[in-house]
Amino acid sequence: MLNKVEEIRKSALQACGQAGSVRELEEARVRFLGKKGELTLLLRSTGQLPAEERPRFGKLVNQLRDELETAWEQREQQLFLEEEERRLAAEALDVTLPGRPAVRGGVHPITRIIEETKAIFMNMSYEIVEGPEVELDYYNFEALNIPPDHPARDMQDTFFFNEQLLLRSQTSPVQIRVMENRQPPLRILAPGKVYRADSDITHSPMFHQIEGLVVDRGITFADLKGTLQLFARRMFGPDTKIRLRPSYFPFTEPSAEVDVSCIMCAGKGCRVCKDSGWLEILGSGMVDPRVLQGVGYDPREVSGFAFGMGVERIAMLKYGVNDIRLFFENDVRFLKQLGRQGGLVC
Ligand code: PHE
Repeated sequence: MLNKVEEIRKSALQACGQAGSVRELEEARVRFLGKKGELTLLLRSTGQLPAEERPRFGKLVNQLRDELETAWEQREQQLFLEEEERRLAAEALDVTLPGRPAVRGGVHPITRIIEETKAIFMNMSYEIVEGPEVELDYYNFEALNIPPDHPARDMQDTFFFNEQLLLRSQTSPVQIRVMENRQPPLRILAPGKVYRADSDITHSPMFHQIEGLVVDRGITFADLKGTLQLFARRMFGPDTKIRLRPSYFPFTEPSAEVDVSCIMCAGKGCRVCKDSGWLEILGSGMVDPRVLQGVGYDPREVSGFAFGMGVERIAMLKYGVNDIRLFFENDVRFLKQLGRQGGLVC
């Protein structure tokens, strides 16, 4: 019996020492110290011994149990540390590696032009307003003095949902919506998306316009010209000149198209301005008395001017981009290149 104790002791300590992982160690523990383990079975056999030997034998087995439990505890700790060390070595971080730089977002060039324009006009105490993109024929055309079958409708290839409902082809309907609800004096700027069935390198079916409207007593054409001159200088640089050419819009009278001196060649003549020295940037005019009347204003009391510009066109001129589609393809390389240029003017 005593030999048996010594035998178990040896093989248990050997198994303990040889266990290469916490799992193997646990398996060995069950084998020797578990409920059906060798030591437990040995203890159960106490009954076979003569009564006087039993206490000594029991004591021996219990001592062995204590000894083995301590051995297991130590081995377990050792294995745990070894495993931890292996894991840390495998997961080691090289803190000297250069970090991955965070990619910084930027403002889209179209948004940038809109924000710059808003800032310029907010400096002249204009209020920023918006109107719906899905618009009624009445606001997009009729109230702007463009009745059904008027030839001016041909100037804008409009997307219609039905006879009354359309995607606005210009931001001018916002003029009417504001005037209908408010009394002069008014000084508003309305940026937004507009839609026309047109697509090539200078036309996109969706593009942006910025509409301006001023109505008050005694507003004259000189106010329009002075305002646009100031805008052009702030947007394109202090030496920019403007030129007004007679034009026609059904809702303004007189009407003028506005050119700025070419921002590429300063008026000398180049490819961008087709050797003319001038670039057309917007349409404008004095609000037609019929439009004022239509919203319930008295044209003998108040007068106003309005203007509307194409944001993409201004962005193309300012950034030297010759294909409008680049603005909407969202190629990060293109956007990054423009994102670096200039900050807000005001
Ligand atoms: N709405 C006109 C267009 O889209 C531009 C414009 C606005 C002209 C305001 C005069 C006054 O062509």
